[in-house]
Amino acid sequence: MQNDFLNAVEFSHYLLEKEVEIGDVVLDATAGNGHDTKFLAELVGEEGKVYAFDIQQEALDNTADLLETNSLAKQCKLIKSDHAEIDKYVEEDLDTVIFNLGYLPGGNKEIITKSESTITALKKSLKLLKETGLVILVIYSGHQGGEKEKESILNYSSNLDYKNIMF
Ligand SMILES: C[S@@+](CC[C@H](N)C(=O)[O-])C[C@H]1O[C@@H](n2cnc3c(N)ncnc32)[C@H](O)[C@@H]1O
Repeated sequence: MQNDFLNAVEFSHYLLEKEVEIGDVVLDATAGNGHDTKFLAELVGEEGKVYAFDIQQEALDNTADLLETNSLAKQCKLIKSDHAEIDKYVEEDLDTVIFNLGYLPGGNKEIITKSESTITALKKSLKLLKETGLVILVIYSGHQGGEKEKESILNYSSNLDYKNIMF
């Protein structure tokens, strides 16, 4: 029997595919092994731009390898920094932003995204986002610290005034 349910990553890619267009400027706030960055790079094409942040060099190296292998590096800017600092690096308004939270698959499970920097990055993303833009958060709560991060993000985002997102 065919399973028609999408997992969280598949659903996020379904949304990205609907939203992102050739020439868009987008942000991957957690590059990890580069799967989301690659997917975004395909969607924006050479006319677009993907900013991808990660605090771990291992993650950025994996992402760079994946992009090189698929001839997608040209439209991507990989940045080794906490995503709480995105406003220091991102020069344009953003069409779409994705956060895929947690730890680097295959890497050190103790290096995880944390609510304080995630929420700072989320606030800054909303400031940089175009009026019609989209922010996607893929949140995992199974690992240590994940539940706390999930609660903080849900609490923050459920209190956003959708008519007037100004910070
Ligand atoms: C679940 S992985 C991301 C998966 C990735 N999007 C992919 O497609 O493979 C989470 C990543 O967030 C990174 N990370 C943790 N804290 C961060 C922070 N403050 N700023 C940027 N990246 C962070 C980790 O190093 C890890 O690589």
